[in-house]
Amino acid sequence: MTTGTMAQPTNSAIPGIANESQLPCEAFSKQWDAIHVEGDQKTRLLAQAVLAFTLRPHIDPALLPLHGLILLVGPPGTGKTSLARGLASRTAESVEPGSTFNFLEVEPHTLANAGLGRSQQAVRRLLGELIPERAALGPLIVLLDEVETLAADRMKLSLDANPVDVHRATDAVLAGLDNLASKYPNLLFVATSNFEGAIDPALLSRADLVEVVPLPSRSGAEVILRSAVAELARIHPAASQIIDDPAFARAAAACNGLDGRQIRKLVVSACTFDKKVALDPGLLGASDLLRAAEQARVMRNKKGNGA
Ligand SMILES: Nc1ncnc2c1ncn2[C@@H]1O[C@H](COP(=O)(O)OP(=O)(O)O)[C@@H](O)[C@H]1O
Ligand SMILES: [Mg+2]
Repeated sequence: MTTGTMAQPTNSAIPGIANESQLPCEAFSKQWDAIHVEGDQKTRLLAQAVLAFTLRPHIDPALLPLHGLILLVGPPGTGKTSLARGLASRTAESVEPGSTFNFLEVEPHTLANAGLGRSQQAVRRLLGELIPERAALGPLIVLLDEVETLAADRMKLSLDANPVDVHRATDAVLAGLDNLASKYPNLLFVATSNFEGAIDPALLSRADLVEVVPLPSRSGAEVILRSAVAELARIHPAASQIIDDPAFARAAAACNGLDGRQIRKLVVSACTFDKKVALDPGLLGASDLLRAAEQARVMRNKKGNGA
């Protein structure tokens, strides 16, 4: 589709909101396309999100429960935030082409850091005032990024080590979500988490769909590395020879165990071995990429061993 007139995200001045946008949003749709996932995961996500708008407003939730909550869980750097933003944009495109949805991205860290007692208040304000105001204007998609910060598993928090505030904040989130779900059928939450085990089970059970976003497979890693090299070659066409070099396949194989973010970053770190390459990145060779991948693996293993 032509995207020239699509909305762009803007940084929000509202505390606790990282950015707000109208959907569809060109930058978000591009993020959706840039994330490689296995099988039909994108289809499943999009279908579930679309159902939140086509089915949820019409059904009796006592008979067919749909909470309007989708959860993406997996290790850091696997594309969850990008997928969540992209999902929001693609959903708006699919449900009613030509119409606009509102989008809010909640920044739970700011809320959680608001201080004892105040984080609970901040969450209440967000869920009790701000989101209802926006939801009253029309279809709304809210991204709760790294939601474990907001809805920490109360069972795993010891009262000695963690302020009562955290327990109360989780209660406030759950109560707020239930309230919003019952009042606003045109509201969809997409939540992400790096630690499934840290999310309160009551939130997990409310999710209509929980999708695990794992580290890339071997073939997935190659697709991602190829795409990152293609971006370099878009600016420096000479770099396109990297793909045909036998060392490229070895570099892709060496990416096994790295996350998607680390794999994309290899292409830039491979340009740092020689100042000549930094000055003209078209000179980058597949062997540099292999060296960067091997270094990244060593780093990852060191971290994995607690070093
Ligand atoms: N599966 C993937 N396919 C392609 N690129 C990826 C993938 N996972 C991560 N990336 C890259 O890493 C960046 C960061 O991903 P992000 O959405 O922030 O991950 P997360 O939220 O899981 O930490 C993305 O913008 C993308 O460039
Ligand atoms: Mg993220």
